Amino acid sequence: MRIAVIHGPNLRLLGQREPGVYGHKTLDEIDSALKTLAGELGVELEVFQSNHEGEILDYLEEVQSRVEGILINPAGLTHTSVSLRDGLAGIGLPVVEVHLSNPAAREPFRHRSFVSPVAAGTVAGFGENSYLFGLRGLWAHLKNPKSEP
Ligand code: DQA
Repeated sequence: MRIAVIHGPNLRLLGQREPGVYGHKTLDEIDSALKTLAGELGVELEVFQSNHEGEILDYLEEVQSRVEGILINPAGLTHTSVSLRDGLAGIGLPVVEVHLSNPAAREPFRHRSFVSPVAAGTVAGFGENSYLFGLRGLWAHLKNPKSEP
């Protein structure tokens, strides 16, 4: 099983970026924890980060033929991007949306997600563990898409 992990804008700043909100883990540390878990689950991961919406859309087009699912932290694009929502819906692969923080408990402009309606599930508020829970959830979903929630 192969899964693409996509990190949206500003996530390369993790570690220095608003640590009170996002914690002290760097993106490299998160990726390495994801790879360890992926190894345990027998999943191959492909990781992509971009600060550019169009690059993420191009990547979705390109990666769709070689992965079975998408784990994505859309970052700020969560709350703004119809195009990202359409791209994710368009490739037709199962998507799990993750957030380090819990956007629903933050400023009102973070309460709307364009991605959640096209995701199989969302995990938010657990820091690095949001990614790890999200990967487990996507893995379980891909193994048995018809299982009861
Ligand atoms: C985020 C939450 C978003 O609201 C924010 O714009 C981010 C990070 C998170 O992981 O908590 O960049 O997606």
